Order: sequence, then C-alpha cells, then structure tokens
Amino acid sequence: MVTGDRKNNKEIEKAMRFKSTLLTAGTALAVVVVSVLSLGAYLRISQQESDYALGKKVYDTYCASCHGMNGDGNGPDAVLMSQKPCDFRDGVYQFRSTPRGELPLKSDIIYTLEHGVRTTAMLPQLQLSHQEMEAVAGYVMSFSDKFKLEPAPVAIPIPAAPPKTDELVKEGKHLFMNACAVCHGTDGEGDGPVARYLKDYKGRPIMPANLTVRPLRQANTPEELYKRIATGLNGTPMAGFNNAFTHKQIWSLVDYIESIASVNEAYGKNGPELVGEEVIGKDVDPSAYEAWVKKGMK
Ligand code: HEC
Ligand code: HEC
Repeated sequence: MVTGDRKNNKEIEKAMRFKSTLLTAGTALAVVVVSVLSLGAYLRISQQESDYALGKKVYDTYCASCHGMNGDGNGPDAVLMSQKPCDFRDGVYQFRSTPRGELPLKSDIIYTLEHGVRTTAMLPQLQLSHQEMEAVAGYVMSFSDKFKLEPAPVAIPIPAAPPKTDELVKEGKHLFMNACAVCHGTDGEGDGPVARYLKDYKGRPIMPANLTVRPLRQANTPEELYKRIATGLNGTPMAGFNNAFTHKQIWSLVDYIESIASVNEAYGKNGPELVGEEVIGKDVDPSAYEAWVKKGMK
C-alpha cells in the first residue's frame, strides 16, 4: 500500500511537473505570440510613422511653396498664379475616379502627381520616386479629416469604349448641345451663355474649359475624358454625368469632344517650353521642370 501510495504520489508529482512544464511552455508560447504580434503592430506603426515623415519631407521640399505648409493653398508662390493651388484642408478634389462629391482614391492623387494639371503651375512631379509619391499623397490626405470620417470611396466602372462611328459622334454632339453648351458654348470654346457667371466653391470666378484646345487639364486620354465627364470636378460647377447618362452616351460625348479638338494646340507642339503658366516666368520647381523635360512628356 505504502509503495503503491508512494508510486501514486510519484505519478501525481510527475503529472503535475508535466502540467507545469506544459503551462510554462504555454506561457512562453503566449509570450512569444504576444511579442510577435506587438512587434508586428510596432513595425506597422513605425512604418506609418516613417511614411508620414517621408511624406512630410517631400511635401515641405516640393509642394509647400505653392500649396502652403499647412495645405491651405496659400504658399508664398501662390500669389503669382491665376489658377490657385487647391486647399487640401477641405478635401475637395477635382480629379477623381470616384463619383461627384466623394473623396478621391490615393491612386487618383498619385495620377495627378505623375501627370500634373496641364496648363497650370502644377507640373508632373517626376523628380519623385513612386515611394515618395505614395508617401506625399498620404501626407496630403492627412490635411483633411474627411479621409478619416467618410467611408472609403469606390471608383466608378469604366466599360470598354464602343467602336467610334459617325453615328456615335452625332449622338454625342446632340447630347453636348443639350447638356453642356450652356456652359461650354455650342462650339465648345468655353463661352456658353452662363460661362461668365460661374463660381467655384470658394466663390472665385471660374470659366468652363475650352474643349477645342489641348492639353486639357487632365482629360488628355479618352479614359480620363470619360472620367471627367462621368465624375465631374468637385468644387466647380462641372457636374458628374454618371447617373444622368448611359456608358454609351458618355463615350459618345468623349468621341464628340475628341472630334472638336482643334489642330492648333493650346500651347503649341514644341514641347514643354510652351505650356501655359507652367513656364511664363512663374516660380515652378526647377527639379520638377527638369525631370519633366527629360521625360519628353508633352
Ligand atoms: C508651382 C506650384 C505648385 C507646386 C510646386 C505643386 N503644386 Fe499641386 N497644384 C498647383 C496648382 C496651381 C493646382 C491647381 C490646379 C487646378 O486647380 O487646375 C494644383 C493641384 C494639385 C492637386 C490636384 C487636386 C485636385 O483638385 O484633384 C494635387 C493632388 C496636388 N496639386 C498635389 C501636389 C503635391 C503633392 C505637390 C508636391 C509634390 C504639388 N502639388 C506641388 C500648384 C503646385
Ligand atoms: C454648369 C456649367 C457646366 C456644365 C453644364 C458642364 N460643364 Fe464641363 N466644365 C465646367 C467648368 C467650370 C469646367 C472647368 C473647371 C476648372 O476650371 O477646373 C469644366 C471642365 C470640363 C472639362 C475639362 C476637364 C479637364 O481635364 O480639363 C470637360 C472635359 C468637360 N467640362 C466636359 C463637359 C461635358 C461633356 C459636359 C456636358 C455633359 C459639361 N462639361 C457640362 C462647367 C460645366
């Protein structure tokens, strides 16, 4: 009996030791898991912090002179410009792939950085790496709380263009006369009957685009033109027609606007030295200008 008891005790001891080993192993494992998780969180946070720091550095170096240190669009160079830099604090973005009234995607901001806003002082920012563009786009978004408060925006679908036919161009012309000419003029030159009375969301006078010249601000490929017509330009009287028209109707407008593009381009065919405000003696960033000229982009 005694032996049995002892044996029992030993077994209990053994079992307990085993249990406590298990417990220790479990605790150790838990500690490892927790540390890996918090290391992950830590790395994520420090990644966010370093993206933010990089974004701020790029912004302060390349953007603040026009857009202002605090993103208000009143940088020291802004006084020189007839087309003012936008106020990032309002979260009102003209150039988007998302419906009228909504925030842009980060990729929309990056598109603007890659292509600039033609005919304005906003040059393509090709001196930046893609990583720098990502970081500065994130930094610019941090100026407006809307990006934290509003639901994440979704891009509108852009179905493939139907074949371009005379019929379609004619349909586009018909729609244009009914829905666009009041602002853009029957000839598309931006001189419709209400053109002189338009204001942007800050109450500044704004003229409809002259659609016969190129480059337009951003609608310089059929797809971009589709986007501008479908999503409109937030903060301006230019509505989005995504709900008013079918995809085919929007493509017909694209084809029509392409068909009225004059052979006389707005700023000549001689490349970057003749592109609107970008170079008429205003302070544009020399590194952005050089990178753009080097790329030979028109
Ligand atoms: C030389 C002046 C200048 C510099 C430098 C400049 N911008 Fe701009 N930016 C402008 C102007 C002017 C506009 C407005 C164009 C318009 O409304 O048609 C603009 C427009 C934009 C827009 C378009 C917003 C919209 O409505 O969709 C974005 C985004 C932007 N800038 C980001 C930047 C970033 C980021 C940098 C720095 C990497 C930068 N800009 C550097 C002058 C500048
Ligand atoms: C209430 C007036 C108004 C109406 C109606 C209107 N637009 Fe506009 N549109 C504007 C204004 C203003 C601008 C210029 C905004 C700016 O300066 O950034 C503009 C700009 C544009 C642009 C230029 C985009 C770029 O990248 O430069 C296109 C394309 C355009 N409109 C197409 C159309 C079409 C097509 C219709 C009809 C389906 C239409 N608009 C109806 C006021 C209007």
